[in-house]
Amino acid sequence: MSELEEDALSATAQADARIGLVALCDTADVTPDMPLRVVVAEVAYAVFNLDGHFYATQDQCTHGPGSLAEGFLMGAEIECPFHQGRFDIRTGRATAAPCTQALRIWTVHTIDGRLCIDPAEYRAEEP
Ligand code: FES
Repeated sequence: MSELEEDALSATAQADARIGLVALCDTADVTPDMPLRVVVAEVAYAVFNLDGHFYATQDQCTHGPGSLAEGFLMGAEIECPFHQGRFDIRTGRATAAPCTQALRIWTVHTIDGRLCIDPAEYRAEEP
């Protein structure tokens, strides 16, 4: 690796640290229509690949203990495997009963082939 490349990587790492991003996984780890469960710092995330766009939500369903990464992805909706409630993975909004409370979601940043989020970000649509 050249000194120039090392400097660029170092600058990227410093910028990432400055804005609080953490890596969840590689882009190649999340295949279309197959959510991935990732645990970072004891927080479980569900990561989705929807036509090449990546989304991250909390893994646990807001209705109960269902793991959304084990659910069924239908377009932009994830169906919980416990009681078949649904959410829009792009907004976190609950779209089918018995779910009424939105999921917490994070903006996914793709950096050097890795999917990164700011764990401190809070985005959830009100029901
Ligand atoms: Fe997910 Fe009930 S636990 S719908």
